[in-house]
Amino acid sequence: MRVVVTGAAGFIGSHLVDRLLEDGHDVVGIDCFTDYYSRTDKEANLVSALVQPRFELVEADLRSAELEPVLDGADAIVNQAATPGLVLSWDDFERYQSCNLGALQRLVAAAMAVGTPHLVQASTSSVYGAEATGPESSPAHPVSPYGVTKLAAEQLLHAYGSTAGLPFTVLRYFSVYGPRQRPDMAYRIFCEQLLDGRPITVYGDGRQSRSNTYVSDCVDATVAALHRAPDASTFNIGGGAEVVLLNAVEVLAAELGTAPVIEHQPARRGDQRRTSADTAKARDLLGWEPKVAPEEGLGAEAAWVSDRRGGR
Ligand SMILES: NC(=O)c1ccc[n+]([C@@H]2O[C@H](COP(=O)([O-])OP(=O)(O)OC[C@H]3O[C@@H](n4cnc5c(N)ncnc54)[C@H](O)[C@@H]3O)[C@@H](O)[C@H]2O)c1
Repeated sequence: MRVVVTGAAGFIGSHLVDRLLEDGHDVVGIDCFTDYYSRTDKEANLVSALVQPRFELVEADLRSAELEPVLDGADAIVNQAATPGLVLSWDDFERYQSCNLGALQRLVAAAMAVGTPHLVQASTSSVYGAEATGPESSPAHPVSPYGVTKLAAEQLLHAYGSTAGLPFTVLRYFSVYGPRQRPDMAYRIFCEQLLDGRPITVYGDGRQSRSNTYVSDCVDATVAALHRAPDASTFNIGGGAEVVLLNAVEVLAAELGTAPVIEHQPARRGDQRRTSADTAKARDLLGWEPKVAPEEGLGAEAAWVSDRRGGR
């Protein structure tokens, strides 16, 4: 297959690129290296892909680039490009709606002009709202502008699907973690704070929980979706265990050989309270189940953060 991966230099996108290359596919990565976090980090994510002859990187912004020549000949597109995270979405909505919705509209229009390859959309448990605990048919009431743009993106695909036959699949990822995790994400920040000997900043009481998804499980699910005939389905993609935030801190601290000092701050507007992924549909229709247990995954992330800083 020839697969176009947008957001290829990002956390999840770069792992997906590596897997698709390993599996023998031709991969075209698109990324414009937004300044949401450092370009150096994103370049490091692509180090192994860039030496592969079956990988091509196109540095382009989905909001403005001519996309048809890049998509021409693709069997599938995975749209990982987005402005992620919810905190900034209250203050810079333009960036969220243009990267998460406007860019997708341009991608879809270009895809339809070159023969409508299967589009797999990276969506999020944030579309559900403060609690994400039920099946895919649960009501979607996002509590952050980020979640609103991601839900609107899903709806845009349904509009193109039902009126113009766009073949697509939506994957709602639940808090993905592991090596290369974005520097604004909680476990990455906790590891850096622990290694610096600084207090851990916990927003709220620390009893919030997450169905954290280890990045290789997230990639497995995405590959499974690519291989399934598209029928406009939506799938929850989440880890098999619900992890309470304070317990995750304990595991990370033990892995890094430090004792955490917790500093509580007020809960942030738009933060989810509880996510517990119901992945029965993905199990039944994608033949996918998460494999990596929280202790193993958190250990791998802590070891990666430590290694990239030159060891403990
Ligand atoms: N990381 C998670 O826990 C998580 C959870 C749920 C959903 N998601 C979704 O998964 C996807 C990937 O997330 P991530 O954590 O890897 O984020 P990331 O920021 O690491 O990767 C996104 C990449 O997209 C690129 N990009 C953004 N706008 C672009 C544009 N207009 N044109 C070209 N490239 C652009 C960025 O430069 C970046 O490299 C996103 O769609 C996100 O909403 C992530």
